[in-house]
Parts: sequence; C-alpha cells; structure tokens
Amino acid sequence: MLIFCANETDIFQFQSVELTTFEYMLDALTYNNSTIHFGSLKDSIFEDLLENQYASSKKIIITDETVSALWMEDLVTSFKALSTAEIIQIPAGEEYKTIDVCAQIWEALSDYEIGRKDLIINFGGGVITDLGGFVASLFKRGLDFINIPTTLLSQVDASVGGKTGVDLGPFKNQIGVFSDAQHVFIDHKFLSTLDDGQLLSGYAEMVKHGLIQSEAHWKNVCALKNLKEEINLELIRASVGIKQKVVEQDHKEDGLRKVLNFGHTIGHGIEGFMLSKGTPILHGYGVAWGMLAEAQISCTKGLITEEVLNEIKNLVVSRYPKIELDASEFKEIMKLMYNDKKNLENRIQFSLINGLGSAVWDQEVTDKEILEALKFIL
Ligand SMILES: NC(=O)c1ccc[n+]([C@@H]2O[C@H](COP(=O)([O-])OP(=O)(O)OC[C@H]3O[C@@H](n4cnc5c(N)ncnc54)[C@H](O)[C@@H]3O)[C@@H](O)[C@H]2O)c1
Repeated sequence: MLIFCANETDIFQFQSVELTTFEYMLDALTYNNSTIHFGSLKDSIFEDLLENQYASSKKIIITDETVSALWMEDLVTSFKALSTAEIIQIPAGEEYKTIDVCAQIWEALSDYEIGRKDLIINFGGGVITDLGGFVASLFKRGLDFINIPTTLLSQVDASVGGKTGVDLGPFKNQIGVFSDAQHVFIDHKFLSTLDDGQLLSGYAEMVKHGLIQSEAHWKNVCALKNLKEEINLELIRASVGIKQKVVEQDHKEDGLRKVLNFGHTIGHGIEGFMLSKGTPILHGYGVAWGMLAEAQISCTKGLITEEVLNEIKNLVVSRYPKIELDASEFKEIMKLMYNDKKNLENRIQFSLINGLGSAVWDQEVTDKEILEALKFIL
C-alpha cells in the first residue's frame, strides 16, 4: 500500500499502483467504458469493430500531414472498411492544436453530413489525439472516437486517460473536456519511423510514471541505453498501466490524478514560453527539465534527498538538450505558470515527489522557490 499526501494534515490511502505480473501481460485494459489494446492493430479487434459495431457508421480519420505521408496508405489498405473513410489532414505541430483548427474540422464534418452515430478515428501523435478527441466530443454533443496513437508520447500518455483539448495562445490545454476514447489501439510498429528526438520526448513521460508511482519502472527506464532498440510493448504497457491505475481512482483530477502533473507546471511554463517566442520545443523536453526543476523544489522542501535529486539530474542532463533560456525570461515563464489551470486562488499548486516512485500533490511553492529551481536548471 502506498500513501499519498494531499498536504501535511490530509493523508489519503490508495491502493498501490504497482502492477502485478498478470497485469503486465494483459492485451487490453478497460476502464470507464474505454478499452486500451496493446499489440498489432491488424491482429486486434479493430477490424471487427469497423465491420460490425460501426458497420453503418461513416468513418472519418483525423491525422496530420507527416503521419498521413508515412502511414495512411498502410492503414486504409489494411482495413477494407476504411477504403471509403473521409480523411481530414492538418499540418503537423503543436501550433495547430487550436480552436481555429477545430472550427475548420467541425465545418468539414458538417459538409460530410456526419451524424451522431458516425465514428472518428484519431490517427497521430498527442496533438491529434488531444484535438481529435475534443472535436469528436463536442460535435453534435459527442461522437464515438477511437485513438490510434503513433508517437511514443501519445502511446504512453496523451491517448489514454480522457483529457482532450487545445491550447489558447501560449497557454497549454486551456480549452478542453474529459472524454474517453471508446478504444485506444497501441501498436508500437508506428514508432519505427519516429526520430530520436520524438522518442526522447515520449520517454520523459515514462520517466515521470516511474518517478511518481513505481521505483521499479523508474529503474527499468533509466537502464535503457538505446531507446530505439529497447523501448518495447512491455515497457509501454507498464507506463500506460501506471497512468491508468491513477486515472481509474480519480478521473476528474480532484486529488490523486494531480500526481501525473509532476514536471508539468514548470514544464508547461517553459514549453508555452518557447512556443510564444517562436522557438518551440518538444513537449517531453519541457517535461524533462520541468521534472528536474520540480525535483529540486522537492529537495529544498526536504521531500527527497540530494542523492535522489542527483540521480534525476544525471538522467535529464545526460539525455536532454539544454533549453536556451535567459534569467531575464523567468518572469514571463512564471506569468504563464500563474495562468496554468492547476492553480487555486492565485497560488501555484505543485505535485512534487517524496521519494523514487512516490508523489504528493497540492503543494504550495513560493515564487522564490520557483526562481531558484529555474536557476538550478539553467
Ligand atoms: N491528453 C493528455 O493526457 C496528454 C498527455 C501528455 C501530452 N499531451 C499532449 O500531447 C502533445 C504532444 O504529443 P506528441 O509529442 O505526440 O506531439 P505531435 O502529435 O505533435 O507529434 C510529434 C511529431 O511527430 C510526428 N509523428 C507522429 N507520429 C509519427 C510517426 N509514427 N513517425 C514519424 N513521425 C510521427 C507528428 O507529425 C509531429 O510532427 C502535446 O500537445 C501535449 O500537450 C496530452
């Protein structure tokens, strides 16, 4: 049994999220009427769903240009039911995760006369699963949607857990709804075309899952030498399993789920700032440096030892490219953090770690502590 603390006076007990050997071997995880399938898409129930449950539904595939060029032919030729699917393709990149792009897609759905019984298939990275899930959830008060994530980041994190939405200028994920895909299909063959930077970006979320919930997972992901060769379905399933067990206990993020935000308060601040500066960085890079900064705060508050902080520092510094920031830019980053949705009454609430594999949430952190942490990562 693990203990998670909301604050010093408020201690909750939750079931341990360590997975059993049996759970590591499952081909599918189900929660909240949403099923996550692991393994070859071709051998999964996807075809059966298209030809039976969704036989009379129009199918719309939302994707981006890069994924379309690399994988669309493979997808539509592998499944007969998709030969007549409408394909909506947007340019690749976080800068297109906006309400304007959603409005254009809603107009296209109207042109295609899409109705409540039709099906949206989100085929791409986290931008597509976040935006496509949001589009599907609001159109005609909600269509069924299926996620087929194609980046490591979307496979281990973005495509599961039911958070959908878009950015508002530099503010990440400001507009959104909780809405679960009916099915998520995680086939790691799609990762074969990802470049090293994108793999490293997704790897940050796997590291986070270990840091907040499972020391064993942290050790397994730290031990990886060559991400391209060594990240396999088992490790992806372990990461998804950790996230899903947290989400199951707190779908709407009233408490425990906040631990998944570890590294994201400062990480989103940095990511949003770099986006507004016109020099966007990958989401996972922001999270990696955000985790180091927030680990430093955890250490300052006596929640972790210097030894643990150094372990995290070694991993981040040795693997992630340095982010070009100047101390004069910290104020802007802080401003973005104050606008973050996780704040309460103008106080920044952090999730911090209190050991390897354990986290606490709703921790108040002063501006001085945040500035010290930003200096530390410089
Ligand atoms: N909803 C959530 O719980 C959650 C969690 C974490 C992150 N996110 C969001 O996810 C987004 C980041 O996800 P991402 O890193 O997947 O971004 P992304 O969707 O922009 O994909 C990254 C890049 O990889 C390309 N790509 C996708 N699949 C590919 C493939 N198989 N081969 C080669 N290139 C491929 C894309 O075209 C894009 O250029 C952010 O917007 C973040 O806020 C959401």
